[in-house]
Amino acid sequence: MKDAEQLLNRLSAVHNVVVLTGAGISAESGVPTFREAQSGLWARYRPEELATREAFADHPQRVLDWYRWRRELIQKAQPNAGHTALARMEEIIHKQGGEFHLITQNVDNLHQRAGNQSVLELHGNIFQFKCFDCEKKQTPPDEMIDLPRCQACQGLLRPDVVWFGENLSAHLLEKAVAVCQQADLLFLIGTSAVVQPAASLPLYALREGAFLVEINPAPTPLSPRCDLTLRIPAGEILPELVNV
Ligand code: OAD
Repeated sequence: MKDAEQLLNRLSAVHNVVVLTGAGISAESGVPTFREAQSGLWARYRPEELATREAFADHPQRVLDWYRWRRELIQKAQPNAGHTALARMEEIIHKQGGEFHLITQNVDNLHQRAGNQSVLELHGNIFQFKCFDCEKKQTPPDEMIDLPRCQACQGLLRPDVVWFGENLSAHLLEKAVAVCQQADLLFLIGTSAVVQPAASLPLYALREGAFLVEINPAPTPLSPRCDLTLRIPAGEILPELVNV
């Protein structure tokens, strides 16, 4: 495919590559996305009942059960060809003496399981926990305990993910902005690009003259700003870019 060939040439010449991923990269692993009309989680569940501080305060067991269900689903899933290609891309860029950063909105750990080293998890990680009250990060002694408690203050433990109405870690966000500002080439993969501040990150790269490539079967609000849009599932096109 011509676009893939052109991108291959570009990849061999760039120094700083940044990849921003969303739920779409994990779709081919069988992990549901959020906003797709039939299959998305937010088509079947109400985020205000499952992904806010208020929901957890009112119904902690319901929220924990939902996250446990998602963890079990993700644990059974395997990284797909798209994840594997991104791990390979990191190796290739490092071999060229360049820098590679993967910024993900996903909480599923699949990029790390595929072998990516440099992963910024903007929205946290579903396999980690923190205290609802004092925010101390910790692992529950037994994940199957219904309402696990903080070892420090006895508050309830919650998944260490960013809920609606919560801020991202300022430190992580600063780092993400900084790597985008250094990017020569930025891939926007499998995200509807509607959740802030993640959706604004590519604009920092564009402002500094980066080449922006979108990989997504559907258009997004950022599509018109991209230099190249590939309407192909990530698991099909990414392996072509790294020749695997
Ligand atoms: P969305 O569900 O909003 O968007 C998923 C995108 O993936 C859509 O644009 C799809 O067209 C695209 N897609 C589906 N299959 C694909 C494939 N095989 N290859 C490439 N693209 C594909 O998910 P996000 O943009 O990740 O937040 O959503 C952002 C945030 O909203 C999530 O991190 C989550 C959610 O509420 C939190 O949990 C804090």
